[in-house]
Amino acid sequence: MNILIMGPAGAGKGTMSDLILKEYDIPHISTGDMLRENVRNNTELGKMAKTYMEAGKLVPDDVINAMVEDRLQQPDCQKGYLLDGFPRTLVQAEEFKKIAEKIGKPVESVIALEVDFDQLVDRITGRRICPKCGAIYHIRNHAPKTEGICDECGAELTQRKDDTVEQLKVRMDEYEKSTKPVIDFFEPLGVVSHINAGQAKDIVFAEVKAALEK
Ligand code: AP5
Repeated sequence: MNILIMGPAGAGKGTMSDLILKEYDIPHISTGDMLRENVRNNTELGKMAKTYMEAGKLVPDDVINAMVEDRLQQPDCQKGYLLDGFPRTLVQAEEFKKIAEKIGKPVESVIALEVDFDQLVDRITGRRICPKCGAIYHIRNHAPKTEGICDECGAELTQRKDDTVEQLKVRMDEYEKSTKPVIDFFEPLGVVSHINAGQAKDIVFAEVKAALEK
């Protein structure tokens, strides 16, 4: 299966990706996670990307395209892919279409998650993440058993630097301006499913699964 999962910050792309992976044996490729790993490891790419990410701005297209092209060459992508947070601009979408055709893996399904701004604010400000295993929590909707501690690996949970109301507004502007046109780009191919992601997690996942299997 060759899947793209799209939606604004806090729409639940990471949360739904974890559930999709439990059903389908394909690699989860999150450009946000890849960039954060580079920032943590203080690589040249990470040093460059950090300033953009902390401001809520998009990292330049050429950097992202090279990173994704390299990742898609890995053997695990033979089975397909779940791309989360990419493509995010028309330039990335056009380049991705060429890469996907070159490797014989054209996109089969685009899941577009949709949520109101007020709900996104609640999700983003309440989100806590595990820096060790990547598990995602929310202080009310999906709290860990022990406050501040990861259920999966016991590490101390943290908050992302870009998870503030101020950065969320910038990320939403970027989404409206740059990423919504990407959904329009895929629309004529008949592969886009619009999902109301403002509902409870189980309901959202049931709708995502139905869209993937239709
Ligand atoms: P990225 O990491 O992709 O962040 P994002 O798009 O802002 O999305 P988030 O990770 O914030 O949210 P999500 O939709 O995954 O929500 P989650 O599942 O965690 O990108 C970060 C930055 O990297 C960008 O700003 C940019 O700088 C750079 N970047 C990345 N890709 C790029 C690209 N292609 N080009 C250029 N730059 C790029 O859920 C959020 C919270 O809500 C959680 O607490 C969760 O528990 C809760 N929740 C989820 N679903 C539900 C539900 N149904 N009900 C109740 N609570 C829920």
